[in-house]
Amino acid sequence: MADLDDLREGNEFGLGVEATAQGFHVKGAANLPWGMKDRLSRIFNPKTGRAVMLAFDHGFIMGPTSGVERIDLNIVPLVEYADCLMCTRGILQSSIPANVNKPICLRSDAGTSILTELNDNVVMDIEDAIRMNVSAMAIMLAIGDPTFEAKTIANLYKAVDRGSRYNIPIMGVTAVGKQMERDARYFGLASRICAENGATIVKTYYCDGFDKVVAACPVPIVIAGGKKLPEKEALELCYKAINEGAAGVDMGRNVFQSTSPAAMIQAVHAVVHDNLTPDQGYEMFMDLSE
Ligand code: 5RP
Repeated sequence: MADLDDLREGNEFGLGVEATAQGFHVKGAANLPWGMKDRLSRIFNPKTGRAVMLAFDHGFIMGPTSGVERIDLNIVPLVEYADCLMCTRGILQSSIPANVNKPICLRSDAGTSILTELNDNVVMDIEDAIRMNVSAMAIMLAIGDPTFEAKTIANLYKAVDRGSRYNIPIMGVTAVGKQMERDARYFGLASRICAENGATIVKTYYCDGFDKVVAACPVPIVIAGGKKLPEKEALELCYKAINEGAAGVDMGRNVFQSTSPAAMIQAVHAVVHDNLTPDQGYEMFMDLSE
């Protein structure tokens, strides 16, 4: 039995003081359950509402491309600077120390490689995601692909059903097929379809008219970095995306293929969270690269 000695009567009831109103810092998430919000809060910093996700799931399609040949050497030293890690379960279990204490956005679909056409046809069991204590699952959508559009939308839809049972957010990742226009109309369509089907985060690409893509998407958008750019241009990309409403970046090659990956991710972090201009971010990159 609990020790009842010196049990003190409560007398600070704040009578006349309104109960604290609880807002929530993630777009479109105010009505979600507590567990979902807790996971989203691990990804999106409650102070800034933003996130720097480090994407290194490239090997699941491309194999050991430049910058991800050795996860232990190339990626693990960057983990401390990321707000969230995006990778596959194989890499998570084999190569990421379990004590890094970072939220994981798990790449949760598979079925294709650079050697074949898109053939994204399996989604991981939700139980495996739970076992790995992930904070979100990422599912790719091939909007506009006549063969795989329906299949990949169904993948997202099912993942949302399963994620909802355990309060695991689902990130919809908008793939761009070779024949797709990379414009605001396409990314606006693809992002909105992700959100309409229940994604609580959308990953897409920056483009002209990005502010409209963001405005029409009721959940946070994080941008992929895309192909490697000179560092200053990559920081400009982050700056423009954030200023036009992105909630963060989910960047890979522009970090791990940089001449100084640790300096680059810290500069990206400062642009995203501290509103550094691209010039200031680049100066920081140069200082840290020395
Ligand atoms: C592919 C992905 C990748 O993680 C994404 O492209 C991010 O990497 P990068 O910044 O190198 O483009 O989600 O579906």
